[in-house]
Amino acid sequence: MTPAEPRAAAPAPDIAPGTAPDDEPGTTPKAAIGNGTAAGNGRAFKVAPARDPWTAACHRARLHVVTGKGGTGKTTVAAALALTLATDGRRVLLVEVEERQGIARLFDVPPLPYEERKVAVASGGGEVRALCIDVEAALLEYFQIFYNLGFAGRSLKKMGAVEFATTLAPGLRDVLLTGKVKETVTRLGSDNKLVYDAVVMDAPPTGRVVTFLGVTGAMSDIARRGPIHSQAEGVVRLLHSADTIVHLVTLLEDMPVTETLEAIEHLRDADLPVGTIIVNAATVSRLPPASLTPAAENRLDKSRLAAGLAQGGIIADDAMLDGLAVQAAEHAIRVLDEADCREQLVATGLPILSLPRLVDGGDLGGVYELADELAEQGVR
Ligand SMILES: Nc1ncnc2c1ncn2[C@@H]1O[C@H](COP(=O)(O)OP(=O)(O)O)[C@@H](O)[C@H]1O
Ligand SMILES: [Mg+2]
Repeated sequence: MTPAEPRAAAPAPDIAPGTAPDDEPGTTPKAAIGNGTAAGNGRAFKVAPARDPWTAACHRARLHVVTGKGGTGKTTVAAALALTLATDGRRVLLVEVEERQGIARLFDVPPLPYEERKVAVASGGGEVRALCIDVEAALLEYFQIFYNLGFAGRSLKKMGAVEFATTLAPGLRDVLLTGKVKETVTRLGSDNKLVYDAVVMDAPPTGRVVTFLGVTGAMSDIARRGPIHSQAEGVVRLLHSADTIVHLVTLLEDMPVTETLEAIEHLRDADLPVGTIIVNAATVSRLPPASLTPAAENRLDKSRLAAGLAQGGIIADDAMLDGLAVQAAEHAIRVLDEADCREQLVATGLPILSLPRLVDGGDLGGVYELADELAEQGVR
């Protein structure tokens, strides 16, 4: 990920030649990371009609599948989403199905055993528990439930049978993982109420997610009857029901955006419900919209720049002004490029949530910050 940038800044003075400020003071940071789009070529800044990106479908869903190109912040965003959904006393499970212990690293807790562990407290007293699903343990648990294999299960493990079985039928791995997730989503407590208000899955990356979510269907075709068949069928029902929704995390960069657009198509083809696009690590524009293009083209009015600095008590010489202009150009080019990427996402018609690039990276404090952002944008 690119180096962190200061998050929100006071609106900068308008320093474009011959242009008047065209946004309200104090609105720049939010507008720039919200659903606003600054058209790179049209040079115009427009804010998409305000609507609640957390739609009724998102609100109703209980299994939130978070995917995205690797490295775009999938794990960080999944954790933030889990925290937001856990506010006000709710209980949320954050599940990891692929990466080894990404959640434990993020929440700064020891490696997760194959067991649900409380990792964070949300505002209002809710809690996030986490589970790292281990395929081998899931298979043994499965044998245990369906075939009552206790000791035999352990010897299967010693013999390497689990590895053997999952190598032989790679889809079996995914069936076990999604099967375990389904169990957590549908689990009832002793009070006969659902144990989790929501389950957030840190899913495989976009390139693999459709196969991952679709494999159970294939499996229920292969195994025409028996426990694998009914397990797979149950998972298929859950994934295609209103209980499930898939969110796509992306950066405002060409490759992740292209992958996101492809994934949306594949998910729709597979009849899997897409919820929101979550833009991560967006640059917060520190220039007023009208100054972006002049800044990008290094046409800022240096005398006005100097005057602005003088107002702040800084006397700038030419070298300093040139240096600032170069920095402003880099920043403006980035903001305009990101706006182009955002336009492509807006064209999908999907609701967009937007998270800023954090100064200190996506550490635990950052996750809480992102969770607050999500809440402000309507996630509940
Ligand atoms: N909004 C953000 N601002 C700054 N750094 C971020 C942000 N989101 C994620 N990161 C950092 O980016 C890196 C990749 O994030 P991670 O969640 O592990 O991605 P993935 O799960 O997609 O591989 C991590 O170092 C994380 O701390
Ligand atoms: Mg990850």
